[in-house]
Amino acid sequence: MARKIHTLAGYIYEYQRSVLDPEAFWTQIAETFYWQKKWDKVVEWEFDTPSIKWFTNAKLNITENIFERYLHTKKDKPAIIWEPNDPSEPNITLTYRELYEKTCQFANALKNNGVGKGDRVIIYMPMVPEAAIAMLACARIGAIHSIVFAGFSANSLSDRINDCTATVVLTSDGNFRGAKTIPVKAVVDEALESTSTVEKVIVLERTKTPVTMKPGRDIWWHDAIDDVSAENVAETMDSEDMLFILYTSGSTGKPKGIVHTCAGYMVNCYYTFKNVFQYNDEDVYWCTADVGWITGHSYIVYGPLLAGATTVMYEGVPTHPHPGRFWEIIDKLKVNQFYTAPTAIRALAAYGIDPVLPYKLDSLKVLGTVGEPINEEAWHWYHDHIGKGRCPIVDTWWQTETGAILISPLAGITPTKPAYATLPLPGVQPIIVDNEGNELKGNSVEGNLCIKYPWPSMLRTIYGEHERCQQTYFSTFKGLYFTGDGVKRDEDGYYRILGRVDDVINVSGHRMGTAEVENAINEHPKVMESAVVGYPHPIKGQGIYAFAICDMSDRSEENLKKEIRVTVARIIGPIAKPDLIQIVPGLPKTRSGKIMRRILRKIATGEKDNFGDTSTLLDPDVVTKIIESAGTAS
Ligand code: WT7
Repeated sequence: MARKIHTLAGYIYEYQRSVLDPEAFWTQIAETFYWQKKWDKVVEWEFDTPSIKWFTNAKLNITENIFERYLHTKKDKPAIIWEPNDPSEPNITLTYRELYEKTCQFANALKNNGVGKGDRVIIYMPMVPEAAIAMLACARIGAIHSIVFAGFSANSLSDRINDCTATVVLTSDGNFRGAKTIPVKAVVDEALESTSTVEKVIVLERTKTPVTMKPGRDIWWHDAIDDVSAENVAETMDSEDMLFILYTSGSTGKPKGIVHTCAGYMVNCYYTFKNVFQYNDEDVYWCTADVGWITGHSYIVYGPLLAGATTVMYEGVPTHPHPGRFWEIIDKLKVNQFYTAPTAIRALAAYGIDPVLPYKLDSLKVLGTVGEPINEEAWHWYHDHIGKGRCPIVDTWWQTETGAILISPLAGITPTKPAYATLPLPGVQPIIVDNEGNELKGNSVEGNLCIKYPWPSMLRTIYGEHERCQQTYFSTFKGLYFTGDGVKRDEDGYYRILGRVDDVINVSGHRMGTAEVENAINEHPKVMESAVVGYPHPIKGQGIYAFAICDMSDRSEENLKKEIRVTVARIIGPIAKPDLIQIVPGLPKTRSGKIMRRILRKIATGEKDNFGDTSTLLDPDVVTKIIESAGTAS
C-alpha cells in the first residue's frame, strides 16, 4: 500500500518532502506498481515548448496494474457494481476476475476487428459496465480511447472522430436516461455520414431500440465476443505512449483533444484516489460522473480499479424515478465514499429534505464534490443532511488537463472549509500570479492560478496541435502552467477557486466555450451575430446567456428563440442550449471590433450601471439599448 497519509502531520511532512525532492517522492509511489521495465529518469521537463516526460523509457501496461496485480488477492472482490437506470432491473456485480476476463475477451474482439496499438477508438456509450470494459480493453492492446459523452450531437461526434481519425466506434443501440430512451446508434449513423476513417462500429444491445446495421461496418457486441478467448497478453507500452484523448472546450471554437499518457496518469490517479478519499479495502466507493468526462475516467474507472477498490457505476439520472434515487442507492449498496457535483447537490436540495428522510445514509464516511465552486449553502446542505454532520467533504479542484485532483482536502485528515478546495496535494506546487505574471506571495492574495512544477498526470499535448497546447497553457505566464482559473489564498493559506478567468463558462460542472456556443447560434440563418456570457444560475452554477442580432422580419421572437435552441442542440448537444436569449440591435464593440464581454457579463447579471469607461466603444448608445431591453431575455 503506497504512501497513504494518515495524519495532518503526515500530510505536512509528505508535502514538504514532495517539494524538496519531487523525484524521490514520486519514485517511492511508482515503485509499488508492476513495471515490465523500470524507468531511466523520473521526470524530464521544460514548460516553454512544452516537453514533459515522466518515468522515461519505462515499460508497462496499466491494465496489468489492475488485474495481474490484484488477481491473487482480490479475484472475488467486486470491482464494479453497476446500478441500472430502472430500479426494478437487477444490478450487476463484476468481480476483479470477471472484469479481467471480459476485458481480455473484448480486447481480443477489438484485435479481431483490426484494432492495433496506437489506433484511435471512439467510445460513445451509456453508463454500463461495457463502457469500462471498452476503455480497459483499449488500454490492454495499446489502442487510444477517446470517449465522447453520449449527450453530444452527431455533429460534435463527427468533429471528434475526424480530429483524431478514429477507425472504430463503440456504441449501443440506445441509452436509458431517466424516463427517456435515446437512440444513440442513429446519432452515430448520422455522424458517420461526415467522416471517412471509421471502418467498424461495434454496437452493444441495451435498449432494444430498432437500429440499422450497415453490412461490413456494423457488428453487434455479443457477436464480436462470441467464441472469443478470454485470455490476452497485455501489450507492452512505453511510459509516454498515449493512453487516451479526451476532448474539452476551450476559449476558441474547436474542442481540444487533451492527451494523457500511460505511466504518469496511472501513478497520479492511484495516489490521489487513495489519499483524497481515504479508501479502505472493504469500502464501496461511488462517483456519479459520466465516463464521458475526465472525472469518470480518473475516479470511476482508473483510480479506483488501480487501487483494487469497489467502484459503483450508475446508469441513470439523480431524479429518476424519484428525487431520492441517489440516497436509495447509497443505502442499497452501502456506499462509503460518495463523490458528486455541486449542481446535483443543488438540484436535489431544491426538493427539500423529504426525499432524503426515508434513508439512513449511515454507511457514508466521506463526501466529495467536483467540477465547479460549491456555494456555502449547498455545502452545508450536503454536510448536514447527507453526511449528517459526520462526513468530511472533499472539495476537489482539478481539470481535464490535470488528469487527477491537484487541490483538495484529504478526507478526515486535513481541515475542510466550506467553498474551499483548501490545500495542494503532495507533489503539487501552485503559484498565484497577477495579470503581469508577478508572483503574489504570502496569504490573503487573489490572482491567476498556475502550477510551477510538473505532476505525472498532466496533459502532454493537444492531439495534433502542440502549438495550441503551448499557446493555451504555457504562454500566458512564462515557465508556468496556467489553469484558466482565478483563485484566492486566504489568511490561513487555503485555496478558494473563484471560477474561470477566460472565455469559458461552467454549466453544471461542464465546460462550455463561449465561442463554441456562439458559432452554433450563428448557424441559424436568421442570426447575424451573437455573443455568449455566463451568469449566476441557482442550480447550474452558471447559465448561458446569449445576446443575438437577428433578422426578425418573418418570425415571432418566441419561435426564433426556440429555433436557436434547437440549432445549438443539433450542433453541440442539449447541454449547450442557452438558458436566456436576448435579441439585441447591436453588440458593444471596441473600435477594433472586439466584443466587450465585460459589459455583457454585467448586463446578464442584472447590473444597470457601473460599466466603467464606455467611451472607447464604437457605439456607446448600444449599451443603453441592451440594458433597456434586458427584461425581454427568455
Ligand atoms: C474546470 C475544469 C475536474 C473534473 C470536472 C471538470 C472547474 C473543477 C472545481 C472545484 C471550483 C472547479 C474549474 C476548472 N472546477 N473542480 N472543486 N472548485 N471549480 O473538469 O471540464 O476540465 O473543468 O472546472 O474552473 O478549471 P473540466
